[in-house]
Amino acid sequence: PASTAELPDADLAVGGVPLTELAARFGTPTYVLDEGEVRARCRAYLRAFPDADVLYAAKAFLCRAMAHWVREEGLGLDVCSAGELELAVTTGFPPGRIVLHGNAKSPEDLRTALRLGVGRIVIDSTSEIARLAAAVPAGTRQQVLVRVVPGIAAGGHAKIRTGTDDQKFGLSLADGSAQHAITRILGQPRLRLVGLHCHLGSQITTVKPYLSAVRRLVGLLARIHEQHGVTLPQLDIGGGHGVAYRPGEDSMDIAALGARVRAELAGGCAAAGLPVPRLTVEPGRAIAGPSGVALYRVLSVKRTGEHTFVAVDGGMSDNPRPALYGVRYAPRLVGRRSSAAPVPVSVVGRHCEAGDVLAAGVPLPGDVRPGDLIAVPVAGAYHLSMASGYNLVGRPPVVAVADGHARVLVRRESLADIQGRDIGL
Ligand code: LLP
Repeated sequence: PASTAELPDADLAVGGVPLTELAARFGTPTYVLDEGEVRARCRAYLRAFPDADVLYAAKAFLCRAMAHWVREEGLGLDVCSAGELELAVTTGFPPGRIVLHGNAKSPEDLRTALRLGVGRIVIDSTSEIARLAAAVPAGTRQQVLVRVVPGIAAGGHAKIRTGTDDQKFGLSLADGSAQHAITRILGQPRLRLVGLHCHLGSQITTVKPYLSAVRRLVGLLARIHEQHGVTLPQLDIGGGHGVAYRPGEDSMDIAALGARVRAELAGGCAAAGLPVPRLTVEPGRAIAGPSGVALYRVLSVKRTGEHTFVAVDGGMSDNPRPALYGVRYAPRLVGRRSSAAPVPVSVVGRHCEAGDVLAAGVPLPGDVRPGDLIAVPVAGAYHLSMASGYNLVGRPPVVAVADGHARVLVRRESLADIQGRDIGL
């Protein structure tokens, strides 16, 4: 990330603030979020996708400040629960610039969306059509998109692939359920179908699957035009743009993605005799991920015959991704220059299971010891937003850094917070 700088004594500055200073001021574990980096990444999207709606996918990480920053930069928001929606709206986020997703939206999700006047709702299943239509107040019409499964395999891990048939999301193009749903939506006077949506999956690093998706969806737009005489004005191709978790790994080239998707869309529509629909993209990880760093303190070091286990004060409760998806990170020692040769270690968490490993077989100086500070870069997306309260360990705070200043955005979850929810006997 652009605003990360090496300092003397092996310290690292993020947003102009040394990580050692942040650890001393705010304690550990702590999530550090670089406001300048978030904003720069938002701008890169707007440059790559001019004349498009860029929605930040709140599921990657949301807090009030984050909602405020992305709105200031000119992005909309993709939410998938009443919780994300309400939080954003409390910051003054215009509901009209918010899209609601979800394969199983609860009555509360739908009620909240309709009450707050969310811009678009993405219909994910046949049963949702009548349920949503019944909830829309008489005399009004809710704008909807329909989530189409285009039958394309892409994405970093089987658990985050959503473009292939036969899974829980969306309406399949191949078996005709998308076409069937579209006919039904067009027959609902309280729903106004404005476009198609698809989301292929997450941590995708090549452009090609998106071009295939655009081709298939333009084909469907043409068939809808033929069959129903309706020209849908919007096309939402979801998010999923991959980032590099370790030096040397691939990441999505956002500028290339934008240029090639727009060219494909323009060409396909021209060939089909359709006007070019307004494009929407929904990046989450590529905005938040590289903007965050997780900071931990080493609590113990255990050397067995074969392995060195470096145990830190966080773990799978604040970052479940290695355990869930086998993702590999590149932790580093900060704030102390060591002359010891690097040795392979396992950075493990404090939780009560052997699988609580944040990074296995990573090089750290051989003299790593309790009290050392460990930074895990690319920790801004799907870490805290997926954090649990396992072992009744409180969730870490989020500290924003910008222009040499640091401030708490979300405070640390205290033991009192945890016990406060428990009603007792
Ligand atoms: N739009 C929709 C409809 C989505 O379901 C998602 C992510 C996104 C956009 C944003 O995708 P992104 O640009 O962040 O890849 N927990 C997993 C990732 C799950 C992604 C879920 N949906 C992980 O930690 O890798």
